[in-house]
Amino acid sequence: MRENNGFAGPILHFRGCDAGTLHLAAITIRPDHAPAPGPVQAQAGSVAPVLLAQVAGLSIWRHDFALRAGEAGYRLDGRDYPVATRLDGDIRLAFVSCNGEENGDLDRDGAERNLMWARLQADHARAPFALLLQGGDQIYADEATHGHPLTEDWPKHVPDSPSEADLADLTRHLERRFAQRYMMVLAAEGCADLFATVPSLSVWDDHDICDGWGSLPESRTNSSVGQALFGVARRMYLLFQHGATDADVPGLFMDPAGRNLGWRRDLPGVTLWAPDLRSERRRDRIMGPGGWNAVEALHPSGDHVFMVSSVPLLGPRLSLVESLLMAIPRMQHYEDDLRDQWQSHAHRAEWRRMLGHVLRMREKAPVTVLSGEIHLATRAEMGPESTRIHQLVASGISHRAPPKAYARALGLFAGLGEAPLAGHPIAIKPLPGQRHRYVAERNYLTLDRGNGRWQAVWHLEESGLTPPLDLD
Ligand SMILES: [Fe+2]
Repeated sequence: MRENNGFAGPILHFRGCDAGTLHLAAITIRPDHAPAPGPVQAQAGSVAPVLLAQVAGLSIWRHDFALRAGEAGYRLDGRDYPVATRLDGDIRLAFVSCNGEENGDLDRDGAERNLMWARLQADHARAPFALLLQGGDQIYADEATHGHPLTEDWPKHVPDSPSEADLADLTRHLERRFAQRYMMVLAAEGCADLFATVPSLSVWDDHDICDGWGSLPESRTNSSVGQALFGVARRMYLLFQHGATDADVPGLFMDPAGRNLGWRRDLPGVTLWAPDLRSERRRDRIMGPGGWNAVEALHPSGDHVFMVSSVPLLGPRLSLVESLLMAIPRMQHYEDDLRDQWQSHAHRAEWRRMLGHVLRMREKAPVTVLSGEIHLATRAEMGPESTRIHQLVASGISHRAPPKAYARALGLFAGLGEAPLAGHPIAIKPLPGQRHRYVAERNYLTLDRGNGRWQAVWHLEESGLTPPLDLD
């Protein structure tokens, strides 16, 4: 993997748009001793950076600036960065998820690891993307807990009452490990140019914190060690994935108190939103008051609604498998994985509640759910046709796929179907041009609006591009 020496960026974050103006934040990361980046230059003028934070020997700088519709891009430190600034009319969005692996991700060969990123970049060079949506597991932090006495046995065992000094030491350790992973991902060859020219919008999933966060026993989650881990993961998520600190939370997320980090952004003709399915998760709930109040108050204004659900909202009848696994003690780990799903028996009421809100939004405009998490490509529909909801699953961009036999077995099982809301059957369907319901290949998704109509295309590592799927 290429060494970044503590340099990364610029990394663009989408802040919103109004009356022909695109609002952006660009993050530039430098070692503490390196000079600050210069100003961003755009038509509206020159903008100096502010020092957002210092962590793990790195200084994180931010330029808040705006580009007018039709403007070519921005200039920083002698380089021009083109940006798609016309957001009305025909636009393209890219969706990726699962950018890493649980074990040894830092040591993978860069060209192999980032192969799909290179294709996405080539695609962007051909026809620029207006936005990069990242649907969860942007880093795999699982190994960050290794190498410190307080978390050596995480999550199997946590020390009862660690000292304040040891917890502070753990915090520094985790900050270094998280920062190392973010820097590897953001500065990677091929990816870096995309991050500098396509504004990003991200929502986290468990691996941005640790495997199964929220579905682990509460004695671990609520322990001082668990809370230290969550605290570091959240601060790093805000910094590296949103270019933000706690002070920015009320302006960027739907819950001004920041208990839940779900967001909503509007483009001409499009409402994009993502609930945060991790911050308030417990074994018996997916979201708390922060998340649910925000969903209740959410009234999309676009002609099309895209919801990013970090774990698939429409899925097969997993509650059956879960009941089977619970009967076998050594299958406990798989039970935690299933507990992460909307379909878990523990979350059925919340699942129905969220589907009810999605149907409420569907009364105003077509709704498409974008999802990752399973390291397979698939799609689903919730009927009937008059209120059809599409779900497009694309996962992962660099996480390698599970065995094909696993995908086949899951596909057979998914034939069972599910209808958590009476009269609204869910069906898992093959991608256009594919025979089986799940494709075990690395992949990403592109969304194109042409003449006001949306289409989706999956980019599969071996099979190539699927025919387009109409989203109305
Ligand atoms: Fe993942």
